[in-house]
Amino acid sequence: MRISKTIALLLSCILTGYIATAQEFLPTEYPDRIILTFGDADANLAVTWRTDGSVSEGIVEIAKADGNPDFVRDKKSYKAKITPYDEAGVKANYFSLVMDDLEPNTLYAYRVGSEERWSEWFQTTTPSDEVAPFSFLYFGDAQNDLKSMWSRTIRQANLHGKKVNFMIHAGDLVNRGVNDNEWGEWFYAGGWLYGMIPSIATPGNHEYYKDENDNRKLTPLWQPTFENPMNGPKGLKESVYFVDYQGCRFISFNTQGLFADPENSPQPKWLDSVLANNDQKWTIVTMHHPVYSSGYGRDNEELRNLLKPMFEKYDVDLVLQGHDHAYGRGGNVPVGLKNRNIDGPVYVVSVSGPKMYNLSLGDWMDRGAASRQLYQLIDVSADTIHYASYTTSGELYDEFELIKRDHQKLFIDHAANAELEEALYPPMRYQERFEDKDWKEFNDRLKEYKAKKSQDQ
Ligand SMILES: [Fe+2]
Repeated sequence: MRISKTIALLLSCILTGYIATAQEFLPTEYPDRIILTFGDADANLAVTWRTDGSVSEGIVEIAKADGNPDFVRDKKSYKAKITPYDEAGVKANYFSLVMDDLEPNTLYAYRVGSEERWSEWFQTTTPSDEVAPFSFLYFGDAQNDLKSMWSRTIRQANLHGKKVNFMIHAGDLVNRGVNDNEWGEWFYAGGWLYGMIPSIATPGNHEYYKDENDNRKLTPLWQPTFENPMNGPKGLKESVYFVDYQGCRFISFNTQGLFADPENSPQPKWLDSVLANNDQKWTIVTMHHPVYSSGYGRDNEELRNLLKPMFEKYDVDLVLQGHDHAYGRGGNVPVGLKNRNIDGPVYVVSVSGPKMYNLSLGDWMDRGAASRQLYQLIDVSADTIHYASYTTSGELYDEFELIKRDHQKLFIDHAANAELEEALYPPMRYQERFEDKDWKEFNDRLKEYKAKKSQDQ
């Protein structure tokens, strides 16, 4: 009797919604998940959106825009490519279009939809076809509590006071890449920003899943969601690609794709040729697993052995990474060579979501942070990259410049400008279970880290 009562109560809870289930973000007849990307190496804009399965046609209407609402009279219509999606109970149609006949450095307004069901008009400025200054945001792993807690970071980053040209997402955008609800949260968090500011996204391990044969595969949501350049190696298109933006080459390298098949991966050869045949002044790589780890107990030695020599040979300037859920920045610059010429890139690992790990306090790090959600605002001009990292509360946490002139590259560390002390202690959930031996081990590492830093100055 008691058991059947319990079952009945459980059933009624489920039916009346008292047991919390994940919020669903199912498609409707109206466009949603509208996102701008770069559709090719020349940074032509692309747009993607989704509807439910009943909508079989997608149109992009676009016009040069100014403050006069009559801009709509000059709109042109383009038919978008359709990609049906039917996985795990979600049926949708994804639509995408590479807008490759727009004028450079020009404000356009566009909307997407069909018949009577349209998005609002968005506006965006096309990239210049010349070397010109620009700014972008870089986010480490968003991954968890996207609606609840990552939303604050992406919104603060965009309210920081500078309009950026695009945003980089360095992998683990969501926690379970096949889970449509989590992508729903990712789109909820950034909302209309994605329709106005293009994204460069690279996948992380959490965008991968294991299929029935235990092979790791990229989520089937990746390619329909992001209309990325198709210039990557076969089998990895739209997760491995490059974009040339106003004097800087941006490369998305798929580390999880590499780990899935290290022996046969075409990525190293592809990367070598994309770095060797590069006429841009600056080169920035984004990838998920880091060359140097900021997370304690983590190290990707094989990845480092493979990529570091290539990055140094071809003078990569910045490597923007994630995965470790702790902040680390360093240049692998030998002690005593600060504020001098450097050959290798500056490596950064960052985290924008709320999941936090213990810091490695590794030798390579010049600045670290545990338990801080961060975003990075990076300005690129012909001679200078200015990098600044801010906490989600908007305080400057780290800063440096790279200046490239006459075939020399100068690194200038401005971390002293930070408004905050280095936050090096383990996240609270670690501290709560720390025993004496853990504290001793941590304090020894902290002492070594501080000694190295005082030597550097
Ligand atoms: Fe990861």
